[in-house]
Amino acid sequence: MAELLIRGDNPLNGDLVIGGRKNSAVAVVPAAILAAGNSTLENLPAIGDVKTYTEILARLGAKVEGPHEGTLHIDATRLRPEGAPMGMVKRIRASYYLLGALLGRFRYARVGLPGGCDIGQRPIDQHLKGFRALGAEVTIDHGEVVAQADALIGTHIYLDIASVGATINIMLAAVLAKGTTVLENCAKEPHIVDVASFLNAMGARVVGAGTDTIKIHGVEELGPATHAIIPDEIEAATYAIAAAATRGDVTLVNVVPKHLDSVSAKLREAGIIVEENGDWIRIIAPDRPNAIAVKTLPYPGFPTDAMPPMMTLLTLASGTSVISEGVYESRFKHVDELQRMGTNIRVEGRSAVIEGVECLHGAPVQATNLRAGASLVIAGLAAQGETCVGGVEHVERGYEHLERKLRSIGARIDRRASEASDANAEGGDARRVVNLGRD
Ligand code: EPU
Repeated sequence: MAELLIRGDNPLNGDLVIGGRKNSAVAVVPAAILAAGNSTLENLPAIGDVKTYTEILARLGAKVEGPHEGTLHIDATRLRPEGAPMGMVKRIRASYYLLGALLGRFRYARVGLPGGCDIGQRPIDQHLKGFRALGAEVTIDHGEVVAQADALIGTHIYLDIASVGATINIMLAAVLAKGTTVLENCAKEPHIVDVASFLNAMGARVVGAGTDTIKIHGVEELGPATHAIIPDEIEAATYAIAAAATRGDVTLVNVVPKHLDSVSAKLREAGIIVEENGDWIRIIAPDRPNAIAVKTLPYPGFPTDAMPPMMTLLTLASGTSVISEGVYESRFKHVDELQRMGTNIRVEGRSAVIEGVECLHGAPVQATNLRAGASLVIAGLAAQGETCVGGVEHVERGYEHLERKLRSIGARIDRRASEASDANAEGGDARRVVNLGRD
C-alpha cells in the first residue's frame, strides 16, 4: 500500500489532458463480450478498475491484449459464462455488468454480487427486475447471482429509480433478446449514450439513449467493433476543482464542456472564472471562493461523484455553504478526515453545512473510497504544510497517472510505501488497513 505526500499551498498552473471516462470504460469493456471476435477499445483510462476488469475477462477465457496507451483488444470468442473469481468481482462495483452481458450472449450468467460500499446502500434490485422481466430466472446462490433463460423476450420495463447501472445492464441483456424492449425512467448520463453507441457499432439497434425512454430492438447476433471511450467528466471536474482550491489557472483538454455544465455553473457561482470552447475548459481562480449551495442529482444535475471534491473547495469559501446528497443515502465518509485539516463541517442526515475557513493545515489522512480520496488530495494541495494521504489504492482505481498529472501542473506530490504496509509486514496492528474499492 502506498501513500501520497503533498506539500500544499501552491497554485496549480498549466494544461492537462483528461483521460477516458471510468464509468463508461467499465461498461464498454464487458459489453465487448456480447460478440465473438476481436473488439478494439480506444481512449481507455489507465486505472485500477479497467485493469481488474480485463483480468476478470481473461479468467473467463477471453483473449485480452492491453491496454497499451489506451487501446485494448478483447477477443471474446472462447469466453465462458462462469468462473469469474469472487475476489476480483467484489473489488469493482461494475462487475454487475457481467450479468447483463453474459445473460445476453449465453442466456446464462453466474457472477458474485458486487461488493458493498461505504457510500450508503446500493442494491441491484432494479437490474434483477429487468432480467426477470426479459424472461430470466434469477436466484442468489452462495453469494452469486445466477441468471438463466431459455429465451429472452423483449418487453416493457419501468425502472423505479433512474439507475445508471440498471439502465446499462438491462440494455446489455436486451440487445440480443427477441423483439423490442422499452425501458422507461432511464438514467441519462452521457456514458449511457457511449455504451449504446458501442452496442450499435456491434450491430445492435438501441434508440433513445440519453433520454428517459430507451428502445432496444433485439437482433440475432452482434459482431466485434472498434470504439473510443468519451472523456471522463469526473476526472475533469476533480482537476477543475483542484485548480480552484489552489487559486490556480488550469486548462483541461479533451473534455466535452457540455458534460461539465453543472460543475462549471457551480464554480462560476462560487466566483471562479470558467472559460470553455471546443474540447477544452479553463479554470482561473484568483480569489477565495464564495459560499454556495450544491445538491447532487442524476445527470444533468450536479454529479454525486464530484461532490466530495466540491466539498473540499467549499471548506475554503468565505461564508457558509450547504451540500445536499441526492443520489446516495450517505456519502460523507471523507468529512472526518477533512476535519483533521482544520475544516468546519457539520453533517445532518443527507446534508452537510460547511463554514468556510481561511486556510487548511496539512495532516495525515486516510482515503476510504475513490472520491473521498480525491477530496483529500485536493485538500492537501490547498493546505499549508505537508499532508499525507493514505489509501492511494482507492484513488488509483479511478484516476490515471495521478501524481504524474498533478506534477505536470505544478503540484509538489510524492509517493511512498505507507507505514501501515510496513506494520502489516511486521504483523503489527495497522490502523490503516483499507477496504478496497468498489465504486
Ligand atoms: N439503486 C437502487 N436499486 C438498484 C440500483 C440503484 O436502489 O437496482 C439506487 C442506489 O442505491 C443509489 C441510486 O439508486 O442510491 C443510484 O444508483 P445507480 O444505480 O445510478 O449507481 P451505480 O450504477 O451503482 C454508477 C457509478 C457511480 C455513480 C453512480 C451515479 C459505476 C461503476 N458507478 O453507480 O460511480 O456514483 O452511477 O452516477 O458506473 C464513482 O465513480 O465514484 C461512483 C460511485
